[in-house]
Amino acid sequence: MRILLTGGAGDLGVLLSEALSKRGDEPAVIDLAPPHHSVKSYFPASILNLGAVSASVEDADCIVHIAAWHGIHESKQTKTAGDFHDLNVTGTFNMLDAAAIEGVKKFIFISSTSISDRYGIYGHTKILGEEMARAFAHRHDMDVIILRPRAFIPSWNTSVYTNFAEWAAWFSRGAVHITDVMQSVLCAIDYLKDNSGFSPKAPAFVVDGAYEFTKDDLDNWDKDGPGTTFEKYYPGVSELFRKHGLDPARKPKVLDMDETRQVLGYAPQYSLKNMIEELKRYDAGTLKLGRDAI
Ligand SMILES: NC(=O)c1ccc[n+]([C@@H]2O[C@H](COP(=O)([O-])OP(=O)(O)OC[C@H]3O[C@@H](n4cnc5c(N)ncnc54)[C@H](O)[C@@H]3O)[C@@H](O)[C@H]2O)c1
Repeated sequence: MRILLTGGAGDLGVLLSEALSKRGDEPAVIDLAPPHHSVKSYFPASILNLGAVSASVEDADCIVHIAAWHGIHESKQTKTAGDFHDLNVTGTFNMLDAAAIEGVKKFIFISSTSISDRYGIYGHTKILGEEMARAFAHRHDMDVIILRPRAFIPSWNTSVYTNFAEWAAWFSRGAVHITDVMQSVLCAIDYLKDNSGFSPKAPAFVVDGAYEFTKDDLDNWDKDGPGTTFEKYYPGVSELFRKHGLDPARKPKVLDMDETRQVLGYAPQYSLKNMIEELKRYDAGTLKLGRDAI
C-alpha cells in the first residue's frame, strides 16, 4: 500500500517508514524536515500548504496523520496556543479535507491520551482533531482509526532526555515504548487493509506498553512493604534502580487497552524487563544509544 505519513521525519515517522518499507509497503512523507532514509516520495512542505497537501495525498491509499505539536511543546512553552491551533487543528483539517477530495478512504489519526486534559492547549487540539476525524468518517464514508498513545518520546531524543537513566525514570512510572507505538500503527494499517465500512466509525484505541505485573499485583501494590512487588518480578534490581534515581516502590500507572488488543491485535513487547536490561548496560557503560540499539 502507498502510505502517506505526515510528520514522517519525526521520531515516530522515521521508525514507521523504515518498518513499512521493510514489509513491502510504500511510505511517502510530507514534512518540513527531510526523512532520514529513502522513501517512495518526499514532499518537503508544511501541511498548512494546501497545494503541497493536495499533491501529497494524490497517490496515497492510506494516510497516517502524525504531524503535531505535542505535550513537550506545551510544557516547555516552545509553541504558542496559535501554533498548536495552526498545526494540530488546521493541519488536521487540511489532511482530512484533502483525503475526502482525493477519495483516500483510509485514514489513521495519531491522537493522544492527553485528550483527558481537555482544557489544556495540547489536549484540546487533539479533541478537536478527533472530532473532525469522526465527522469526516461519517460525512465521506471514510475508514478512520484514531490511536491514542500515551507519552512515547524515545530515550535517544536528546532534546528531551539528557541520558538513559532520565528516560528510564520516566518509563518506570508506566509508559509505552516508541517501537510498540509503531507496532500499533502497523496493526491499524492492517486492520484498514482487511476491513472497510466498519462500525462504529472512527473508533479510538488507547496504546500503552507491556507489563509483567498482573492486575492483582497492581490492586494490592506493595502490600508486604515498599518495593516488594517490584522485587518479586525483578529480584536484586532495586539497588540499581536507586543508584540511578529510580524508585522501585513507585506503582506504575497502567492503562486499560483490552479493545486495542482484541480489535487491532496489538501486542506490545517492550516492558520494564527490557528497560532493566538496557539500564544494566547503561550502568556498565555498554549501552548503545539511538534507534540502532533496539
Ligand atoms: N511523542 C509523544 O510522547 C506522543 C505521545 C502521544 C501522542 N503523540 C502524537 O504523536 C505524533 C508525533 O509524535 P513524534 O514523537 O513523532 O513527534 P515529532 O515531534 O518527533 O515529529 C513531528 C514531525 O512533524 C513535523 N512537522 C512539524 N510541523 C510540520 C508541518 N507544518 N508540516 C509537516 N510536518 C511538520 C516535524 O518536522 C517532525 O518531523 C503527534 O501527533 C503527537 O501528538 C506523541
